[in-house]
Amino acid sequence: KTIHLKDYREPDYWIDETHLTFELFDDHALVHSRMSIRVNPGEAGDGRPDLVLDGQNLELMSVELDDKRLASGDFQFDENTLSLKPERDTFELAITTRIKPRENTALEGLYQSGSMFCTQCEAEGFRKITYYLDRPDVMSRFTTTVIADKGDYPVLLSNGNPIARGDHDGGRHWVTWEDPFPKPAYLFALVAGDLCLIQDSFTTMSGRTIDLRIYVEPDNREQCGHAMDSLKRSMRWDEEVYGREYDLDIFMIVAVNDFNMGAMENKGLNVFNSSCVLAHPETATDAAFQRVEAVVAHEYFHNWSGNRVTCRDWFQLSLKEGFTVFRDAEFSADMNSATVKRIEDVSFLRANQFAEDAGPMAHPVRPDSFIEISNFYTLTVYEKGAEVVRMLHTLLGPEGFRKGTDLYFDRHDGQAVTCDDFIKALEDANGADFTQFKRWYSQAGTPRLNAEGRWDAATGTFSLLFRQSCPPTPGQSEKLPFVIPVRMALLDGEGNEMPLRLAGEDGERGSETVLSITEAEQLFTFTDLSEEPLPSLLRGFSAPVKLIYPYHRDDRVFLAKNDPDGFNRWEAAQSLAVDVLQGLVEIHVAGRPLMMDQRLIDVYRTVLGDDSLDPAMVAEIIRLPSEAYLVELAEQADIDAIHIVRDWVRHTLAVTLEEQLWSIYRRLDERIPYSAEAVQFARRSLKNTVLGYLMLTESQDALSACVRQFVEANNMTDRQAALVALVNSPFDDQKRAALTEFAERWKDYPLVMDQWFSIQASAAQPGGLERVQELMEHPAFTLRNPNKVRSLIGAFASQNLINFHRSDGEGYRFLADQILLLDGTNPQIASRLMTPLSRWRKYDPARQNLMKRELSRIMGKPELSPDVFEVVSKSLA
Ligand code: ARG
Ligand code: ZN
Repeated sequence: KTIHLKDYREPDYWIDETHLTFELFDDHALVHSRMSIRVNPGEAGDGRPDLVLDGQNLELMSVELDDKRLASGDFQFDENTLSLKPERDTFELAITTRIKPRENTALEGLYQSGSMFCTQCEAEGFRKITYYLDRPDVMSRFTTTVIADKGDYPVLLSNGNPIARGDHDGGRHWVTWEDPFPKPAYLFALVAGDLCLIQDSFTTMSGRTIDLRIYVEPDNREQCGHAMDSLKRSMRWDEEVYGREYDLDIFMIVAVNDFNMGAMENKGLNVFNSSCVLAHPETATDAAFQRVEAVVAHEYFHNWSGNRVTCRDWFQLSLKEGFTVFRDAEFSADMNSATVKRIEDVSFLRANQFAEDAGPMAHPVRPDSFIEISNFYTLTVYEKGAEVVRMLHTLLGPEGFRKGTDLYFDRHDGQAVTCDDFIKALEDANGADFTQFKRWYSQAGTPRLNAEGRWDAATGTFSLLFRQSCPPTPGQSEKLPFVIPVRMALLDGEGNEMPLRLAGEDGERGSETVLSITEAEQLFTFTDLSEEPLPSLLRGFSAPVKLIYPYHRDDRVFLAKNDPDGFNRWEAAQSLAVDVLQGLVEIHVAGRPLMMDQRLIDVYRTVLGDDSLDPAMVAEIIRLPSEAYLVELAEQADIDAIHIVRDWVRHTLAVTLEEQLWSIYRRLDERIPYSAEAVQFARRSLKNTVLGYLMLTESQDALSACVRQFVEANNMTDRQAALVALVNSPFDDQKRAALTEFAERWKDYPLVMDQWFSIQASAAQPGGLERVQELMEHPAFTLRNPNKVRSLIGAFASQNLINFHRSDGEGYRFLADQILLLDGTNPQIASRLMTPLSRWRKYDPARQNLMKRELSRIMGKPELSPDVFEVVSKSLA
């Protein structure tokens, strides 16, 4: 059943108070709710409407209306609802349900992860706990009492502050929590378990002391320091940059091993996938450290952008997610290298979100319909949504943007609002008009921005003509022009920025400016130029578009070496590499011999030799564009050719630059005490990128350096990089030895074993599918744990393109088999795995047929979940 934004109306009833009591037992839980309900006068019309509560997989034990037990004829219920006819405008409704958390493999609602109980209610999981108005515009004050065995579950948590506790007979105990802030049910949380506590405190800008707590299983106690530090930095940053102070006296994070997503911002009680909390140098890579910092910040920032001000309905999801991703990205940029963070995010967006925009699931940042909301926690809503907020920030400038967010938080505190309300606050605070800009929320697809420059030597003018268009997407054949902010500069022959004067304008624009493209076709003329400039366009990726400018390869070389803007230096090198690779793919397909363009080598040589550059930047610049990005860029992707050519270029670069790579590796391979700081992240990033290249030369020296690094590393980043290089090398003995040793040493560390699975699942050597099938039998693997599924099956299907797309279609069949299995236990995870198959139109006719065959097979399964049904039916449409 499809839900439409245009059908939104306010709820018939409000729930002012919600009192919950959970009795937890080994094989079931009893949930007693008592709600103070009031009719919504705006919606009542003639006569009082029925009260229709949401509920799923619940065993209904009793219903009491104003303390009178209702007989079974007094209410009606079916699979998804409980309805009754209230006799008064305000009343108290008490309901008892019985649920089976241990059998809840979908990990939505109340479930068991290992020996603990935990919840995940966003988006519509609360209805699997009790009957309720499970929609974000119904905000209620919650108190929660949890009762459980004291020995097995010494820790009992819920939202807000603990206000009472005590013991019962029979070894049971209870704790009552009160959350003073009204909230929608999706922010409810409960945790019960035998957990250990890491504690710290934070003093807010107004001088209040907040009790900070991270709860983990006792084995993981040593791995929480980084998350705690990240939390304190996030709290300080949100005060400094957004003026947002924390509001409760206690803030808790709990790590759980079985979790569908990264983490969840439940009020005062964030529940995290343990992969986004735990970090220790011995077990976590630098990338994991940075992910922990980013996710801790993201969930913390939701306390204002999401909880204090929440979403009216799920079509507005990007209101909180796009904004909060923008906030966490700016935070990470401030904590680490801002340029490198931006490069990582842009590469990710282009390879993945652009592909989503071009596929059958394409949707606007604010979708207008869905079948299953869980399918819309997408790269478009999150990452593109963040780009949209970033553009608003660019257009208003930091101060204007801050004025706007101050007004937004002030005006809408305690409310459930829409993306329009957010924009309105930014407009009102700045006297701006974003009417046209809002098309970014309603039109799907990645806009193309064609630009052309014309130099007129006689008049000293340079004109830039922009043309924008946007390809059709499902349900949207025609698009209106977007507002596209283009941050840019003009460079002279030395690479210096030239003063910018625009024809028709009085003043000067300095050396860098933001052009606002609003028309389908628009011309800007720069005057008073002393020589022909080279434009540096879309700096910092100021808009999520595909910019096409007819640069010559020599121009890209010049920009890669000279652009004063770090991001655009990377961009120039990247686009040069794309151009070279695409050219070679054509040559390869035509059956002609491959020849390296020396200019790419020249750029890499220069960058590798530039000691003034941040080593992390160097690492980014010498990383070739991913296969996934090359697939996205292709009209119809020849995955074999892309793989062969990219591999050949990597080998050629390695062999040609070998000497220089060695000198960098030796310089950076120093024995220094480990620290989780940006300077060291940067050095390790370059060292390990270089090691990867050196291993491609297949020399004995490279092999011994790699083996030595694997054995002697004092941190997981270096150890894992060495393992990756070995696994992707032809040195079979050393590879096997390293894999065995690694698994033996880390078998009791699930997150490290996830890495071990994913490294092997991603390896491009032939026989990848058989390796993955074998690994499915490994004792550490289980389909019940989402992290394991992602690290083995997910990594294979999305990182190992050459093996997944093997021409006999066995990769597709394998994935479809797993999806069908998982659909019965965890539909959200099954649905996520659909992505690679949904992109079938990108490939050749033979592969298209094989992929469609698997899609049809999935479509044919009786009782398919709505999650998988939505993706498979839209993919085949
Ligand atoms: N709000 C969470 C976050 O982005 C994500 C929760 C997603 N849950 C889901 N079932 N799709 O921080
Ligand atoms: Zn979020």
